[in-house]
Formats: sequence, C-alpha cells, structure tokens
Amino acid sequence: MNDTATNLVSSDLFRKHKLRLINDRSVPADQVKILKSSIKKLLIKNNATLIAHYYVDPNIQSLAEELNGCVSDSLEMAKFGQTTDAEVLVIAGVKFMGETAKILNPEKKVIMPTLEATCSLDLGCPAKEFKAFCDQYPDREIVVYANTSAEVKAMADWVVTSSIALEVVEHLDQEGKKIVWGPDKHLGAYIKKETGADMILWDAACIVHDEFKYEGMLKMKSLHPDAKILVHPESPENVVSLADMVGSTSQIINAAAEEGINKFIVATDKGIFYQLAKKYPNKEFYEAPTAGEGATCKSCSQCPWMGMNSLKNLEMVLINMNNEIIVDKEVAKLAQRSLFRMTNFKK
Ligand code: 13P
Ligand code: SF4
Repeated sequence: MNDTATNLVSSDLFRKHKLRLINDRSVPADQVKILKSSIKKLLIKNNATLIAHYYVDPNIQSLAEELNGCVSDSLEMAKFGQTTDAEVLVIAGVKFMGETAKILNPEKKVIMPTLEATCSLDLGCPAKEFKAFCDQYPDREIVVYANTSAEVKAMADWVVTSSIALEVVEHLDQEGKKIVWGPDKHLGAYIKKETGADMILWDAACIVHDEFKYEGMLKMKSLHPDAKILVHPESPENVVSLADMVGSTSQIINAAAEEGINKFIVATDKGIFYQLAKKYPNKEFYEAPTAGEGATCKSCSQCPWMGMNSLKNLEMVLINMNNEIIVDKEVAKLAQRSLFRMTNFKK
C-alpha cells in the first residue's frame, strides 16, 4: 500500500471496528482493585499465566508482573510461552501474538481477552496477495515480520521481530541469499539500508508508528538538545534518521538505562511509558510528536487494537475460558518451521 492507501485503509478500519483508543482508564480505582484480585484468583484456578505486551493497559502489565507472568516485546512473549509450565497462556496483546503462542505450543490452550484485536500490518498483508507477490521471486528467501497471519507465516522461510530482524537479514545476506520482505515497508527499508542486503519489499505500515513526524521531532529536539531519541523501526525513514537508537520495545527500554543521560524522546506506542517511568523514576521521557502539518493522528501514539485489552474482558475470558485461538493444523505445521527459526536464532 502507498501512504494514501494506508491512510484510507486505516480510517475505514477505525469506522468498521468502531475502534476506541482507550480501555480501563475510566474504571474507578476501587473497581480496578476488585478486578485485579478476581483475575489473580482465576489465573491460579485455571493454571494460566498472563503474557502481556508493553503497549497494553498498565493495569494488565502490572498484574502480569505481580504474578510472574511476562511483560515484554513480541519476541520475548513468544519465547516465554515456550518455557512456562502453565497449561493455559493468556495473551494480552494482538491476534498475531496469540497465534504465534498457539503455533509454538500446540498442546497448550491459548486464550485472549478479545479476538478482535488485530494489527494494520497483518491486515495489510492478505495471504493470497502476498503469495502471488512471493511467487514472482522464487529464488528468494521469504522473511516476514511476526505481525502477520498464521497463513503468511506458513509460506515464509523466516519469521522475525524488530529485535532480531537486522541480524537475521545480515546472516542471510552473508550466505548470499536474496530476500522478499513483508509486510512493514519502514522496517524493511531500514534493514535494507543498514545491511545492504538485496531485498524486495511489500508495502504496508503500522498506523501508529507511521504517524510520527520528522519536523515535529526536530522542533522537540531543539527544545531538549540534551535528550536522546529512541525510535521503533516501524517509524518512517526520516524519523528513524534522527534516532540515537533504533530498536524493539525491549531494546528501547534497555537503552534508557544509559548512564548520564536523563532525557529521552520516545517514538513508539505510549503504553511503553508505564515501564519507562517505573524503571527510571528519575529520568524524563517525552512522547515523540504525531501532530504537525499533514497530521491525521488516527491513533495519537496509541495502538487501538492493543487498547482493546481491558481488565473487564480479561476477567470475562478467564470466567468463560473462551476466546480460544485455533490455528488450522496444516497451517500451524508449516508456520512452526519459520517460527522455530525465529525463537532459536542466536544473535
Ligand atoms: P516489538 O516486537 O518491538 O514489541 O513490536 C511489536 C509491535 O507490534 C510494535 O508495534
Ligand atoms: Fe500492529 Fe502497529 Fe498496533 Fe503494533 S502498534 S500491533 S504494529 S498496529
């Protein structure tokens, strides 16, 4: 998709799904306490563990932490599911994360607070069209981002997340392999530039990161010249060009540990600020700008699909033990190959 197409698709999606941008922040504090206590009991009763992404409601993140579950980036979420003894994996994130957990752990029950939480990258890469695209380049390795459907993963040679994409492509390039990459055009362009690998890119984008603005970022930097800029690689190329560090959500959090640097401008979903504030209470963090000329601000740095995870639907799914992730067995078998390559890859 080109930029205009991405914008059209995203506004259609917002209308179609009646996407809301926020979840439990309207729930009174005493209600939050009751809900958290109920969820804790239900997790224990069902021998379930909570695996949450950094973009979901801080109340859900803190619950996962308190209960020795997992709060992390998408790669660590996938790996955690493989190591836990729990019989049920409760994935607070978006659908591709639930599908990844199920494919890697077919013997476990995988449930999600909502099955409607998808991702613009997944939606922007329909399996049939992507197959036709890949079929044009039969001599190339197919490398896909984790933010895709199980069907797309099934046709891939490799699945990667933003924390290992660069190293995997470097590795393939050193082996003399040429690559078809999908779906995120910004992440693909960044890796292509950094590695010099021969890559053909699919054209889709994340509606959240696509909104970060170069001009606004420059202005912000001039207001805080001593701040370091941390950018998720799903952001546009000109925004990435201003970054002091480009990386996954976990890598962004780790980068903020740098001694002697106390100010950061952060270009990713605002859910991450809960972790940043908790880990570094004496440092200052600024949200990268999404406003400015040409701004559409459909998400305002907040993924609408991640925002569909709430304490209320988390409690409901644990009461009903429904919203189970089911992946076709044949598709899962094929997707396992590329997903195991991802979880076994050593940097
Ligand atoms: P991470 O792998 O960096 O957590 O990214 C997942 C994602 O969906 C970012 O938008
Ligand atoms: Fe997908 Fe972007 Fe949301 Fe991540 S932030 S889940 S890439 S739409």
